[in-house]
Amino acid sequence: MNILAALRERFRAALRPLMEPDAALLEMIRCSQDPRFGDYQANCAMSLAKRLGRPPRDIAQEIVKRLDVADLCEPPEIAGAGFINLRLRESCLAEQLARASRDERLSVPHVRQPRTFVVDYSSPNVAKPMHVGHIRSTVIGDAICRTLKFVGHTVIGDNHLGDWGTQFGMIIFGYRHFADEDRFAREPVRELSRVYQRVHRLLEYQAAREEIGRSEESVALLEGLLGQREAEVATRPDDKNLAKELRELRDRVEDAREKRAGTRARIAAVAHDADLLHFAEAHPGIEEEVLSETARLHAGDPENLALWNRFLPHCKQEIKRVYDRIDVRFDCELGESFYHDRLEAVVADLKRLDIARESEGADCVFLPEYDSPMLIRKKDGAFLYATTDLATIQYRAETWRPDAILYVVDHRQSEHFGKLFAAARRWGYADVELRHISFGTVLGEDGRPYRTRSGDVVDLEELLDEAIRRAYAVVCGNDDSKPGGPELTEEQRQTIARTVGHAALKYADLSHNRTSDYVFSFDKMVAMDGNTATYMQYSYARTQSIFARGAIDTRALRDRAPRLTCAEPEERDLAIELIRFEEALEKTLEDYRPNFLTAYLYGLATKFSKFYQQCDVLRADPEALRDSRLLLCDLTGRTIRQGLSLLGIGVVDKM
Ligand code: ARG
Repeated sequence: MNILAALRERFRAALRPLMEPDAALLEMIRCSQDPRFGDYQANCAMSLAKRLGRPPRDIAQEIVKRLDVADLCEPPEIAGAGFINLRLRESCLAEQLARASRDERLSVPHVRQPRTFVVDYSSPNVAKPMHVGHIRSTVIGDAICRTLKFVGHTVIGDNHLGDWGTQFGMIIFGYRHFADEDRFAREPVRELSRVYQRVHRLLEYQAAREEIGRSEESVALLEGLLGQREAEVATRPDDKNLAKELRELRDRVEDAREKRAGTRARIAAVAHDADLLHFAEAHPGIEEEVLSETARLHAGDPENLALWNRFLPHCKQEIKRVYDRIDVRFDCELGESFYHDRLEAVVADLKRLDIARESEGADCVFLPEYDSPMLIRKKDGAFLYATTDLATIQYRAETWRPDAILYVVDHRQSEHFGKLFAAARRWGYADVELRHISFGTVLGEDGRPYRTRSGDVVDLEELLDEAIRRAYAVVCGNDDSKPGGPELTEEQRQTIARTVGHAALKYADLSHNRTSDYVFSFDKMVAMDGNTATYMQYSYARTQSIFARGAIDTRALRDRAPRLTCAEPEERDLAIELIRFEEALEKTLEDYRPNFLTAYLYGLATKFSKFYQQCDVLRADPEALRDSRLLLCDLTGRTIRQGLSLLGIGVVDKM
């Protein structure tokens, strides 16, 4: 049972004679932060008092008089200015735990009104290897899908692959000019990726060549300004405004220099490679050449289509391998290419309905809430990313009739989705809830987007390998320092390191508020203490080692249906935390934020650790107390395992 939700319902009834409570008023009934004030606390009397112009303590008394919570709580207490403090009855706690213990699902019920969700996540462009930028969408999307499914919604997880368009134009172009047939036959993905990188570098080079003049100028300009300001500050050292301007200017100079360094590096990458340089000189219009390969693919040119058909299975197989490694599976994978044949009709329909119109030869959807229109067909006839997304909404709506479509995509695409949703609503999809589940950037410890030392994007698989290496070191360190000497075989150490390493990478991402940027740190993510996967794994393994040491058959324990006894406050604290699992899931899904679930699990593990320090379990006497404590251990282990599995993370029995 979700106790918080139940209490809010009881308050709703008690508040009604005073005023029909709105959601904000009911939100004031919360878990209390400090156990001295009970388990739950309601601040609504103060707010009501203000609205009704009466003393808050009177209001609190009136509420308490009507509040019917005797089956759940001890008699409510009024404290301070009019806080209502609630303490759960031990019998209620015991009842909840007994129920959870009997139930496969830890007594988390299915939602009363299941909805159908399409979750668009991961969605990489398949022509290039997966990199660090793909982690967040994949991991957050996977956690959201698993959690929605667990509580009983229908979920279609769809990997909207970028399997069409510019990237393939690049590979086709590259293949024609640089590919080595033998290498392709032996290692197709590696060869395609090499070819892709070359074309990418050439395109960047051309763009950088055009940019470098401006880039140098702006550095020179800003440096000149900086010189002047510094001189001024020297004469007026006490001028605060001037000092502030100087600081801002320094930042701008820093940014401009950094930008210039990037531009220079992109030029150098080709200038230092005689072959590439030669090629670049012979193809000054490489961008147009690539575009024309893309256009030919789109137009159905048989040669380009044949190449695309030849490349695609290899690209897909490659990313599948990575998904298998991290245990991510989709319900379907309808990439951009799937929608290509529908785009013409989408544009025609939008024009017929007067939602799109022609402007300077292109077709656009004008949206009053945006300055610039949404382009859906270019002057040269090419369709765009947005056109495909419109076709995708239409297809999803017709195929699955979803209540909601969630797009787990980074924050830089928020304008795209804003426009897309506005256009879709006008097109007739106003009933479908369209949500951009946005997330921030993965940063390096220097606060800039995470890159390798040489400035390249970080390959996802290398990241996984490194996480496993680090986890292995932690596992060995922990095992070696056991009082009775190491317990694990080499093989066990490696298996554990794999689970822990993958877990670390996922958990680090999920435990951060998704909308902020987060700093990637291997050291932090495999740390044994703090809110990390390693700590969670360790806590779980601890529960299992209790059973192993005591030769406890947990099934038999559950069948004995022991009753909770709270001899120590730590037992009660742990019990309370255990019955809050359902609350945590509800909170997680409210705004699709897995960090609420990690925070809950971390809180649970912390309470368990305090309990275990304070209370003997295997040596507890009498038998009933021992069983009650074993029940707490069992439920803790099961809740951690279930919670982590909703995050796509496995557990280990030993560590
Ligand atoms: N492939 C896109 C990219 O890498 C992300 C696609 C997100 N999903 C969507 N329906 N637009 O930027």
